[in-house]
Amino acid sequence: MAEQLNDFIKNESKGLGLVTAVSPANIAFIKYWGKSDKQQQWPANSSLSMTLSKSVTKTSFAMNNTGFDQFIFNNQLLTSKDQRDHKVFRHLQFLRDAMTSSGMEISQKFFTIKSENTFPMGCGIASSASGFAALTTGFLAACTDSYQMEQLELAGFNRTTIAKLALRGSGSAGRSISGGYIEWVKSTSPECQSIEPFMAAKEWDLSDIIIIASDKEKAVSSTDAHQYAWGSPLFSMRLSQIDEKLKFAKEALETRDLQKLGLLLEQEALEMHAVALTGSTPVQYFNQKTIEIISWIRAERLKGNLNAWFTLDAGPNIHLICKASESKNIVKKIQLDWPQQMIIEDRVGTGTQVYKYGEIYD
Ligand code: DP6
Repeated sequence: MAEQLNDFIKNESKGLGLVTAVSPANIAFIKYWGKSDKQQQWPANSSLSMTLSKSVTKTSFAMNNTGFDQFIFNNQLLTSKDQRDHKVFRHLQFLRDAMTSSGMEISQKFFTIKSENTFPMGCGIASSASGFAALTTGFLAACTDSYQMEQLELAGFNRTTIAKLALRGSGSAGRSISGGYIEWVKSTSPECQSIEPFMAAKEWDLSDIIIIASDKEKAVSSTDAHQYAWGSPLFSMRLSQIDEKLKFAKEALETRDLQKLGLLLEQEALEMHAVALTGSTPVQYFNQKTIEIISWIRAERLKGNLNAWFTLDAGPNIHLICKASESKNIVKKIQLDWPQQMIIEDRVGTGTQVYKYGEIYD
């Protein structure tokens, strides 16, 4: 492990330290839940999300000459030689094949890849979204010697193209490439699905205050739960109404109507969890603390003390959506009533960036 890290640093000093991609997580307002085609990552429905700015994955690439990829995450080293079937290496293979079939010669480039999150993983802060967004963007940038998103676009990969490749690693990752409010449009076939910016971050400055109810990794992955959803008696009802709900959510965004959006957010999160709870293998992602905090949010709002609405991803943590201008005061209020809870104060952001390795931010 230490040796691989040394190699990483040595390569960097020889100019082979290539690129770092920084990708944010995103929080879905209308959830992607269920897949119509697992192989091609075609979702059961269209979804809509807000790209975050503070909860990010940073993934750096340095070339190596071992003939294999190496992936360092959480002080663990994986190699494509021993773990070919790991989802990271399967995705890298998919990207290599995609680039090769579009005429680029990259089959002999292998990388040592180091990745880290600024937030706890696997507990409902979309670590797979930021993780696969950074892995995809970083790999494309490293293969094309691009040190900025603009260069990557000149090399043939604009954000829309990158998003479509990233979603093959993890569906929600496709929505972490561009910033602001993003729609993943299901369309009529897997090939025609697309990921499109709906509204820029600067159009509406919303915050996502993430209240950590548990930082333990979830027992059932969303990938498995997407399959179980088809067994829920509630799922067909959900799918029959989802386009209408998506339309309302987009209207609420366009008119900056937080109350309308907020009511939808809560219904949508609870509906997704109801489907998970009643699937072919029932999955419960929330815990006692989640319920206590949700009840508190609703009670405080009724009393006129809180202008914020919650949503949940596939995990127990609460994402409290509010105007960014009110976020500081809301955080103070939470800290007062829930002093034990860890809080991440995040807000809408501008999407994935790439940097020359070593040239970043803190
Ligand atoms: C609850 O994107 O993690 O966060 O495509 O199998 O990797 P895979 O699933 P994933 O599912 C995310 C589900 C969700 C809702 C959402 O982000 O829309």
